[in-house]
Amino acid sequence: MNIQNKIEELRILFDSDYQLFKNKKVDYDSIYNKFLSRKGLINNLYSFLPDVKAEEKSKIGKEINDFKNLIISSLDKSNISNRVQSSKENIDFSLPNTYEKYGSIHPITLIINKINKIFSNIGFSIIYGPEVDTDYFNFEALNIPQHHPARDMQDTFYIDNNLLLRTHTSGSQIHFMKKHKPPIRILSPGRVYRNEDISVRSYCLFHQIEGLYVDNNVTFSELKGTLEYFAKEFFGKDVKTRFRPSYFPFTEPSAEMDVYWGLNSESDYRITKGTGWLEILGCGMVDPEVFKSVDYNNENVRGYAFGLGIERIAMLKYGIDDIRLLYEGDVRFLRQFKK
Ligand code: PHE
Repeated sequence: MNIQNKIEELRILFDSDYQLFKNKKVDYDSIYNKFLSRKGLINNLYSFLPDVKAEEKSKIGKEINDFKNLIISSLDKSNISNRVQSSKENIDFSLPNTYEKYGSIHPITLIINKINKIFSNIGFSIIYGPEVDTDYFNFEALNIPQHHPARDMQDTFYIDNNLLLRTHTSGSQIHFMKKHKPPIRILSPGRVYRNEDISVRSYCLFHQIEGLYVDNNVTFSELKGTLEYFAKEFFGKDVKTRFRPSYFPFTEPSAEMDVYWGLNSESDYRITKGTGWLEILGCGMVDPEVFKSVDYNNENVRGYAFGLGIERIAMLKYGIDDIRLLYEGDVRFLRQFKK
């Protein structure tokens, strides 16, 4: 008998066995073994291949493979639907799930995700800069030359003369502008490091989110409007904000934004130093010196930048009164944060 006829014969046999299997007259193991096991009928077909004419070999080989796959998938499907059927009968859908026991999202991550979303909604893209950076990206290109007194604002961990742990996320602005031309609308979250005494209020690392918008003729009122929109989305539409003049070497003019939190608990007093106001970010119009260092020569190019401090916001929002809790990984603390 030639192989083609053998395949046809097996198809008929499988069809009738498959009906028996579906009607539960034959069990899964026996139909599987009969056709698919090592000594099963399909493997047996392959043993006829050496006698097939050379020009027909690949066609016949493919036909056997297709047939085998058809058997596998038919058995699989009915097996799965059998299983679903029986598990439906056994599951009690009114039981509480157990998933949440195994982890929670860190409050810093919760805040960063929420802020990312608010700015993504108005067209900002999320990008990341390196945590180990050079003096050039962290200071020089941001208009903070060596020996400039502004370096004292940020006590730095140096790795060697030229390499350091970034003291702010502002270096991501430079990395991005060196590679892209305006218009630019980016948000860059991440860790930053400063060599500060560790206390209830400060730690040697913390988190910032940098924002940068560069285009033709960007204005300070757009900066204000964007940050007020952010504050309303994040803290609620009745939030009170205020801008105070400030100084950063890479922005001119510069400001800081405070939000009014009120004095409702002891930790509110401590974190806001008794004023009820909390400074949450530094901002300003990008200084022309910064545009020079990234070779933006178009004289109409303007931009604004801001840097948000995440820990303060997290502490206030969740009433955390010791910053160190955020880094110790104590599950009794972490378990309290669900969304
Ligand atoms: N990099 C500043 C800091 O760490 C914050 C800032 C960012 C200010 C962008 C202005 C513009 O304090």
